[in-house]
Amino acid sequence: MLRVDPDWAPRAPLERLHLDWLTAAGIEVAVLRLDLIDPLISGNKWFKLAPHLQAASAAGAEGLISLGGAHSNHLHALAAAGRRFEFPTVGLLRGAAQDTPTVRDLQRFGMRLHWLGYGGYRARHQAGFWDAWGERYPGYHPVPEGGGGLPGAMGCVGLVGQVREQLAGLGWADYHGWWLAAGTGTTLAGLVLGEAGAHPVYGAMAVPADHGVARQVRAILLEAGAADCGYRLLEACRGGFARVDDALAQFIWGSEAAAGLPLEPLYTAKALMALRHRVEAGYFARSSRLVFVHTGGLQGRSAAMREHEPARSSAPAGCIS
Ligand SMILES: Cc1ncc(COP(=O)(O)O)c(C=O)c1O
Repeated sequence: MLRVDPDWAPRAPLERLHLDWLTAAGIEVAVLRLDLIDPLISGNKWFKLAPHLQAASAAGAEGLISLGGAHSNHLHALAAAGRRFEFPTVGLLRGAAQDTPTVRDLQRFGMRLHWLGYGGYRARHQAGFWDAWGERYPGYHPVPEGGGGLPGAMGCVGLVGQVREQLAGLGWADYHGWWLAAGTGTTLAGLVLGEAGAHPVYGAMAVPADHGVARQVRAILLEAGAADCGYRLLEACRGGFARVDDALAQFIWGSEAAAGLPLEPLYTAKALMALRHRVEAGYFARSSRLVFVHTGGLQGRSAAMREHEPARSSAPAGCIS
């Protein structure tokens, strides 16, 4: 039977971020490093997954089964949790079999993979989809795609406490708001619930507006019985989800070199670049203090950046310099 160590409560460090455009605007930023919570399990995906694991454990499940693409950070966190807590996991993947760094990790972590094609993956919303997989994997607890919904958001509520506990270490008495990437808006909704109106949460949307982030956040808050306020969603997708343009790639190299913060291009880098644009446009008053969330996903970085790797200078054969 699946058992999750109840004492395993990973803590994300809160670190100051030093970049010249922040200094020029008089804005202080601290990064909540969800990418550093554990060598195996990374990012907001763990916090969204934790309530699903607890539900599966309470129901006496044998293992967990979920869905995602060949670069899915969600499946990555699920497979890593299976490895860490020694329970079996099954991943249902979109499209035809692919070899990506994420897929290689899923296999390394022992997740059983099934490639559903595109049509088969679209059928995930049809009645009876899970029944068929339930027959094949009896006792496996299904986790919704991305670990979203109210349970996923509830797993992120505790991040507010993690920040508050670490403020004194930064010499901060308080902060003025949160800034993070939003894909489904689940993590943002968890922070809004955790803040209960104390500080605003700014969501830099990594997906186009028609992906329904606003609708999903509203639905989670409604289901939780909370008011639909205390947050703002801002455009940050740069023309489409998963699109990495040259300006973004340059921003990533520049920020990493200047601040030593590894950035994942699809979410964290787009969120930080959107923050830069807002800061330079005077969106925040001088002396504002913001908490920026690094939501992890770094295992997918190399695949997303492949076309933008800077040219390496190659020495002629035989030369030692
Ligand atoms: C690395 C990373 N950052 C941010 C997000 C966005 O989180 P959410 O869907 O909770 O808005 C995701 C997933 O969607 C992600 O994989």
